[in-house]
Amino acid sequence: MTPTLPFTRTPNPQPATPERVAEVLAKPGFGQHFTDHMVTIRYSREHGWHDARVEPYSPITLDPSAMVLHYGQAIFEGLKAYRQPDGSIASFRPEANAERFRASARRIAMPELPDELFLESIKELVSIDSRWVPAADEESLYLRPFMISTEAGLGVRPASEYLYVLIASPAGSYFAGGIKPVTVWLSTEYVRAAPGGTGAAKFAGNYAASLVAQAQAAAEGCDQVVWLDAVERRWVEEMGGMNLFFVFGDRIVTPELSGALLPGITRDSLLQLAVDLGCTVEERRISTEEWEKKAESGELTEVFACGTAAVITPVGHVKHAGGTFSISGGATGSVTSRLRSALTSLQRGASDSHGWMSTL
Ligand code: PLP
Ligand code: COI
Repeated sequence: MTPTLPFTRTPNPQPATPERVAEVLAKPGFGQHFTDHMVTIRYSREHGWHDARVEPYSPITLDPSAMVLHYGQAIFEGLKAYRQPDGSIASFRPEANAERFRASARRIAMPELPDELFLESIKELVSIDSRWVPAADEESLYLRPFMISTEAGLGVRPASEYLYVLIASPAGSYFAGGIKPVTVWLSTEYVRAAPGGTGAAKFAGNYAASLVAQAQAAAEGCDQVVWLDAVERRWVEEMGGMNLFFVFGDRIVTPELSGALLPGITRDSLLQLAVDLGCTVEERRISTEEWEKKAESGELTEVFACGTAAVITPVGHVKHAGGTFSISGGATGSVTSRLRSALTSLQRGASDSHGWMSTL
């Protein structure tokens, strides 16, 4: 175990005024506003992880030849801090994010940040910026840890220097429309990830590669893209920032982890919460033909997407090159609502039988 590093703390000399914080928290949106501080930790091959700091939120200076700007070594995570009924602050399964951050680092040939440092960075930032954690039910403080290569030079190889940064942003609903069913576009022209590729890593390039398809989905009048497998373009994988679940009465199916989709922590948690609610769960392949056929026959009763940012969002309508179809008339189903409420109440202090909450 790597001992955690001492953090140098430099408070922001010009923090936001209480009025400004109140104004942001009244209508946080998603990813628009940032707290007063950030955490940075540096890595070099020579010194390992060092120079841990809590400092004012500010721009980062990079050499124009910094390798991340050319060859894209960049990974990130997303998790939230929730205000608890007694006023304390807790996060949901942060050790799972720490582990996934290391898995992403390995795939992109970056150094692994020890879990202790990842978790400590969250405690440091939430403690100094605690006034930015909203108290309203659908709101939280979204935490965004990320790592980039900073070594200067144009050789194509893993860099020898990296910067880990943690920033935080008060968050409300991810979708502008709030919690109402979304319409999705089945992408057959573009793929997000291929076998052997980077799809299971939270790697910035995956998101860059998705943007043109997201624009296509928007042009088709849809909210989000659904990614299909790269080879047959027929097996459902996931959405842009969410995993997908299919509900057949009290039987719940989610695409199996093929290596090309992100192993979502919400996905993993819902597989357990669904069992707690008396459902049976299955991780297997599901095709677009099965989706359409069973939506039309009524056997498929609900579809929803899930992730840290979007929580649980019902999928009401599906559009593809050959037409459109709906799931249960586009309404939000009861399994979706029950799972959403089981998850969000647990995150806000209801009984935590799985031991998922960590007080910060
Ligand atoms: N899939 C992708 C591509 C994502 O970016 C995310 C968000 O992190 C998810 C799925 C859901 O993962 P999690 O539930 O861990 O937030
Ligand atoms: C998250 O849910 O944390 C995500 O990363 C989704 C998106 C904002 C990229």
